[in-house]
Amino acid sequence: MAAWPNLHVSQHPAVRHKLGILRNQKTEPKKFREVVRELSWLLGYEALADARMRSVDVQTPLELMAGEELADRIGLIPILRAGLGMVDAMLELMPTAEVWHLGLFRDEKTLRPVEYYNKLPDSATVDLCLILDPMLATGGSATAAIEVLKKWGAVRIKLVNLIAAPEGVEAVLSAHPDVEIYTASLDRQLNEKGYIMPGLGDAGDRQFGTGQTG
Ligand code: PRP
Ligand code: URA
Repeated sequence: MAAWPNLHVSQHPAVRHKLGILRNQKTEPKKFREVVRELSWLLGYEALADARMRSVDVQTPLELMAGEELADRIGLIPILRAGLGMVDAMLELMPTAEVWHLGLFRDEKTLRPVEYYNKLPDSATVDLCLILDPMLATGGSATAAIEVLKKWGAVRIKLVNLIAAPEGVEAVLSAHPDVEIYTASLDRQLNEKGYIMPGLGDAGDRQFGTGQTG
C-alpha cells in the first residue's frame, strides 16, 4: 500500500467479518442493507479519526470541566443510488452533518458516469466532505463527484467505500492526490464489464432487490 499513502484499508476484524457476509451471494437484500449500514458506521468512525475538535465547557454533576466538541462542519455526499444505504449510519455517528445528494450512474457501455441529480447549493457550506459510495470500480463516478465538490469549493474531501478496485484507486489518487480513501477492502481487479473481482456484484441492485447481481 506504500504506493498509495492516502488509501486506508480497514484491518478491523469486525469489518473483515461483515464484509464476508456482504460478499456472499446468498445474503438477501434485507441483511445486505443491514451490513452496509454496520460497515458504514465502522468506516465512518475510522474516516473521522482526524476531524478537528474545539474546547467547550462541560458541567458534569460534580464540576465544570474543559470538554471538547466536533469543530468541523461535516457534509455527507451519498452517490445515488447505492450510497443511500450508507447515510443513516453516518448520521448516527455525526448527527449534525449536512447531507447533499448527488445522482450519478455509470453508463454500462462506456463505463463513464452520467450526472442526473445535484442538490448542492451554490457554494460550500461544510469543512469536510465525505463522499459515500459502496463501490470504487473504474473510479469514474468518484472522480466526477470530487470534481463537482471541488468546483463547489470543498477543500477537504474523503471518499468512503466498502470495496475498491486498484484501477479505481489509481484513477482517483492520480487525479486528486489530496483526497483520502477509506475502504473495507482493496480487491484484485476489474473484469471486462467493469465489475470488481471478487467484489459483491452490483451494490445498488443487491440493496434494493433489483436486477442481476453481476
Ligand atoms: C455503481 C457504484 C458507483 C459506481 C462505481 O453505481 O455505486 O457509483 O457504480 O463504478 P465506477 O467506479 O466505475 O464509476 P451504478 O452506476 O451501478 O448506479 P446505482 O448506484 O444507481 O446502481
Ligand atoms: N458498481 C457495482 O455496484 N459493482 C461493481 O463491481 C462495479 C461497479
